[in-house]
Amino acid sequence: MEIIIQPTPEVATSVAARVIARQLRDKPDSVLGLATGSTPLLLYRALIGLKLEWGQVTTFNLDEYVGLAPDHPQSYHSFMRENLFRHLKIDPENIHIPDGMAKDVPKFCARYEKEIKKAGGIDLQVLGVGTDGHIGFNEPTSSLASRTRIKTLTQQTRRDNSRFFGSEGAVPYHVITMGIGTIMDAKQIVLLAFGEQKAKAVAQAVEGPLTAICPASILQLHPTVKVFLDEAAASQLQRTEYYRWVFSNKPEWQRD
Ligand code: F6R
Repeated sequence: MEIIIQPTPEVATSVAARVIARQLRDKPDSVLGLATGSTPLLLYRALIGLKLEWGQVTTFNLDEYVGLAPDHPQSYHSFMRENLFRHLKIDPENIHIPDGMAKDVPKFCARYEKEIKKAGGIDLQVLGVGTDGHIGFNEPTSSLASRTRIKTLTQQTRRDNSRFFGSEGAVPYHVITMGIGTIMDAKQIVLLAFGEQKAKAVAQAVEGPLTAICPASILQLHPTVKVFLDEAAASQLQRTEYYRWVFSNKPEWQRD
């Protein structure tokens, strides 16, 4: 894992945006895995500003709430449309987001997995992390080998996400999420985490034991993960000096 600590979310995001820009320049028909929530908002703004070529890009989102139609203001379909897709020249046919209204959820999930495979697999997956260590909506004790499926949110996640819904009661109980196995199949992973409230989950994911109690800890087994943090999210890490040392002493050929 490469841990990149920057003074603010803005600076960390601009470095992460360069990684994604390079991916799209090197492979214009890249398959991107995308996240929603507060964390990637700055990233999407930065990517829009970079005016990259999106014509051949395919995207797969991590998750969607069960029971929310694509035009529901809190659906992740709406989130992605508002915060990214409507600002890009991307082929709507190439956009994939789990269908929260799917009649047959297991069948839909199996098809989502097949579509990812058919597209050639995910080249670069963007991730945030929950305060409980979830990635996608793979909550603690999710199978580390799981594939796309329905999950029940923890009370902690429903509380965390109530800020988008106005009240906790309005947050759906169920989601469709890519599995941890699905995420781990991505060729490259970029995880972003900002703020004090993420510090514990980040420390457990990066320096804790590999355990389903902290699903993000599985990333220790992935060969190409970059973790972008601001100072607050990095505040419970033990080895920050080493991470900074590594970042400032990268061989020339590894720099942007
Ligand atoms: C969203 C997702 C989640 C979020 C996580 C953090 O698609 O998969 O794992 O990344 O819940 O959410 P924020 O960024 O709102 O703190």
